[in-house]
This record gives sequence, C-alpha cells and structure tokens, in this order.
Amino acid sequence: MKVLIIGSGGREHALVAKVSENSAVTKVYCAPGNGGTGREDKCENVNITKIDELLAFAIKNKIDFTIVGSEEWLVQGIVDKFKENGLKILGPSKKAAMLEGSKSFSKEFMKKYKIKTAAYEFFDNTNDAIDYLKKCEYPIVIKADGLAAGKGVVICNDYETAQKCINDFMVLDIFKGSGKNIIIEEFLEGVEASILSITDGKVILPFVSSKDHKQIFDGGIGPNTGGMGAIAPNPYCNEEVLDEFYKNILTPTLKGIQTEKMDYTGIIFFGIMITKKGVYLLEYNVRFGDPETQAVLPLMKSDFTELIVSAIDGKLENFNLQWNEGYSCCLIAASKGYPGNYDTGLEITESGKLDGKLFLAGAVCGDDGTIRTNGGRVLGITGFGGTLEIARDTAYADMKKIQFAGMYHRTDIGKIN
Ligand code: AMP
Ligand code: GLY
Repeated sequence: MKVLIIGSGGREHALVAKVSENSAVTKVYCAPGNGGTGREDKCENVNITKIDELLAFAIKNKIDFTIVGSEEWLVQGIVDKFKENGLKILGPSKKAAMLEGSKSFSKEFMKKYKIKTAAYEFFDNTNDAIDYLKKCEYPIVIKADGLAAGKGVVICNDYETAQKCINDFMVLDIFKGSGKNIIIEEFLEGVEASILSITDGKVILPFVSSKDHKQIFDGGIGPNTGGMGAIAPNPYCNEEVLDEFYKNILTPTLKGIQTEKMDYTGIIFFGIMITKKGVYLLEYNVRFGDPETQAVLPLMKSDFTELIVSAIDGKLENFNLQWNEGYSCCLIAASKGYPGNYDTGLEITESGKLDGKLFLAGAVCGDDGTIRTNGGRVLGITGFGGTLEIARDTAYADMKKIQFAGMYHRTDIGKIN
C-alpha cells in the first residue's frame, strides 16, 4: 500500500510513524513533510502543497489512501476533489469542514442539534457588537468566525479589552476577512479535554482522551500557542464525564452529521470543557490535533492503517478499537520568542538514546545532513509509563538529551493539581 500524508508538523511525523507500522504499507509520501518525516524508513518527502499538485501526484503514484493533517486543505475542499477523481482520502467534505472553518456555522449546528455548548450571539456589524458589549457580564469570549491559525479567540475580562478586540477583528481586519464576522460567547470555567475521534458517517469512535497545554508559560500563563504539550489519557475524563460527553455531545453530533447529509469520513476532534454545570462542547476540529496526536497515537494498540481503511470503506461499526494501558506525555520544544518572532536555521543535536519517541515539527534536514530549526514549535518528545508521573519523567529526561540554541519548553506539562 502507498500512503500520502499532507502536512509538515509533529502531528504529521506521528501519522507517518504510525501508518508505517503496518507491514502492508510499503511507501509513505509526506507533502511537504519535515526533517523528521524525511528520516522515517518508509517515507519520502515531496515538496508540493497545492491541491491540484497533490491530486496529480496521488493519481500518478497510485496512492491507496491520503490523510490530511491540517484544516486549511479540508476547508478548501481537498476531499471532494480527491473523491471526484476516484481516490480514497480520510477527511470531511468541504461542507462538513465548515464545522471547523466557521464558528457561526458550527454554533448553529450545535444549537440545532441540542448539543451542549456555551450561549452565544453572532455579529456582522461592529456597532451592534459594541452595543451588546455594554450589556455583557464579564469575562466574555470573542471569536473570529473564520480560520485564524489558532489566534482567533480572545477571553476579555472587561469592556475595554472587548472593545479593542472587536476593533482589531472587525475594523482593522487583522485576520484578513476571517474576523469580519464574530461571535460573542459565554465564558465557561473548568478543565479542558481533547477527544479525537474517527467517523465513517455511520458511527463515531472516540480515541483515548487527551489534554493540551495551550499557553506558552508554566501555570497556563501568557499567550496562546498551537499547544506546548499534551498528555493522554486526560485524568479528568472519568466515566461520568465520558458518559455525559457521549449523551450530550457525541450522539447528537452524529445525528446532525447524518441529518445534514454532510459526507463526513474522517477525524472529528471535540474540544470540551468540563465544568461544575456539566460537560460543554467548545469547538469541533475536523482533523487530528497537534500536539494531541503525538500523545494519543502511540497509545493505539489496534492497527492504525486498518482503522483508517475501515473508516474510508464505511466499516467502522465492526472495528474493535483497542488501546495500550498506561499514559503518555508529549513535551513540545519551541524556538526562543515563539509564539512571537524567532530565529531559524539553528542546529538541533541529540546526545544519548531516547526512551520515548521524538517527533520533529519545525525542523528541516540541511544540505550538510544536520537537522535545523525552521519553525516555532520545533519538536515533540513523547514519554510513556504505567503512571502519568513515569510518562512525564521519561519525557523530561529525554528532553535533556536534545539541544538547540534558545530551546524553550514548559516544565509543568502533565502536572495535575
Ligand atoms: P476554540 O478555538 O473555540 O476551541 O477556542 C480556543 C480556546 O479558547 C479553547 O481551547 C479554550 O481554552 C478557550 N475558550 C474557547 N471558548 C471558551 C469559552 N466559552 N469559555 C472559556 N474558554 C474558552
Ligand atoms: N492542539 C489543538 C489543536 O490542534 O487545534
């Protein structure tokens, strides 16, 4: 089997590694890939990113199935294009990808199918939004309607901050169209969890739960990032929480996907908030999370490639999805300055054998064979153990064996209060 994986992050490195475990997979192409995917035995990086080029490549190379990492391609309709050309691909249709691509679309969907979520209002007019702010109780949450590379959500503690945010989004148009429409949402207090799942449109099979750490600094302080580390399973996702998630979120979501005839064969990632008032859905993502994938996939006991093929063939109902016992902890090492500006081109060195798994992200293989930084989130290390403490200790011990100038990581990933 030949597989194409689209993307270039730590998530895609984890996908390449997991797909490669199946002996029937003879070749994996990663487009455009990174320094880590390029080092995997079965994998070759191909430097293409446009949908038409990817489609031509998949046809020419007789790719058996494609997995799409990032939402950008999904929202542009890559799945519809591949399917029209008779190619197998894991991902939602363009219409279903709107569950991530538009906050107002996804909130309307949640409302229509009675999925438990924060109360909200939609605005496409600045004056109306500002008027509404005057009546709000703070904090409130302001969200750009469109994709904003993870930067489109601001928690506002007071009127002044909210007003500035609306000005940035709607008037200054900092997200180039994506913030012209906004939603203003009730603030929920609680603990977050990420539940990656896979669907063939008939059933949704949830993966083991996980927990991202979004802020840059220890203690959850500072600006949001793409994610500075993840653990799995999420210790807060007990049976009661998962039962509620099933009943109030997963089941009505499946009903909505079916009723709306969305053509959804892919990953559906539920971002939930566990509060004193119950479990709420914050958002859908229509693809694998990063770094969650680096923590979750290595725990999968079942064959990942068989799972993907079952989903694409509409046969998930009979798939017995199994997980290894124990915990994982993924730490992200970032460039100095991230999520702001940072330098690139710095050499990454490893000293000593790692006990966990190393997934490269913003890192490339230089002409001289060295691995060098070229992004904000540079790499992830996932440690494993029978307890969360052992998984953490393994990951932190491994992190000491990796060096690059200015390397930054949080020191509290997986610390549970
Ligand atoms: P979203 O893209 O909607 O998941 O939002 C990104 C992040 O903003 C979430 O992971 C939460 O940390 C935070 N967030 C979003 N919505 C809310 C809310 N209603 N209350 C509190 N925090 C929120
Ligand atoms: N880690 C959150 C995301 O992938 O969106």
